[in-house]
Amino acid sequence: MCQIQQCMQMGSNNGNGRVFCFTMPSLAAFPSAKALFYVTHMNCPHLSNSTSITELRALALQSAGETDSSRKAEGVIAMATSWQAGELSLDTQQSLVAQQSIPGRPAKPELISPKFVKHRSMLTVEGRAAMIHALTHIEFNAINLALDALWRFAGMPRAYYLDWLQVAAEEALHFSLLAAHLQTLGYQYGDFPAHNSMWEMADKTSGDILARMALVPRTLEARGLDATPMTRAKLAQAGDQPAAEILDIILRDEIGHVAIGNHWYKVLCDERDLDPVATYATLTVQYKAPVLRGPFNLPARRAAGFSEIELTALMDGVPSASASK
Ligand SMILES: [Fe+2]
Ligand SMILES: [Fe+2]
Repeated sequence: MCQIQQCMQMGSNNGNGRVFCFTMPSLAAFPSAKALFYVTHMNCPHLSNSTSITELRALALQSAGETDSSRKAEGVIAMATSWQAGELSLDTQQSLVAQQSIPGRPAKPELISPKFVKHRSMLTVEGRAAMIHALTHIEFNAINLALDALWRFAGMPRAYYLDWLQVAAEEALHFSLLAAHLQTLGYQYGDFPAHNSMWEMADKTSGDILARMALVPRTLEARGLDATPMTRAKLAQAGDQPAAEILDIILRDEIGHVAIGNHWYKVLCDERDLDPVATYATLTVQYKAPVLRGPFNLPARRAAGFSEIELTALMDGVPSASASK
């Protein structure tokens, strides 16, 4: 077990609505509220920042360039912990430019077209490992997406950056849990090929924060809300209860991530005097967003802040149908 996991303890929401995630060695007793990392574990060697950067967005950019997946996850958790400890400043106005390739990623997994990603039987260990690997890869991308939302877009309120810091830390937790579980099956992150569709949408929307909020958290991450219950059921049916319990944590946290996307999308629509529903339809066409198909997890989507008008449009396929033409 990674040392950082040994420094993780269970906690609960601290009541102020802004929790910094954390993890635990025992999934069975995991609390219903979000996990909270205890800053009392600052003496963990994994949590000491080795960087001299003390500004949050600049540090997020540095983490985005990190190529080692474990170091990236641990660095993001260290960053959130340092923020909680009051060790970092936040410059909301500075425009940052990446000096390295973004996102940093390891040499493996090999990135291939989604149509070449094999679907394996969940009845074999290899098949389950391939599924866990695919989920681990999604979470690796999700760390990069949250970091990108944090460093790339200047001029937003402080709360925006703190929201995305929380998301980044939770994605790092999700990645770490899945990567550790993958190892118990005899595999590690990088052992199967993977696709890059999530990052492709980040690239396409890098010039407009409104498009980013519309099409990454409230489209791609929201799709995870729909897919996770079915994936969880398959893993539980195959006897992989630890994986099912990790997915419970992920689904709970992802509702919060989509809610953050919805919140800032609507703030930006208000600022630009745009109608959120009509604008979403326009953006899906403009950026060729993926066609979303049901079944939709309507309770989770409602909990994440989608309005009934938006859900009706989703079920009618209005924006996606237009996008596919
Ligand atoms: Fe996640
Ligand atoms: Fe997420």
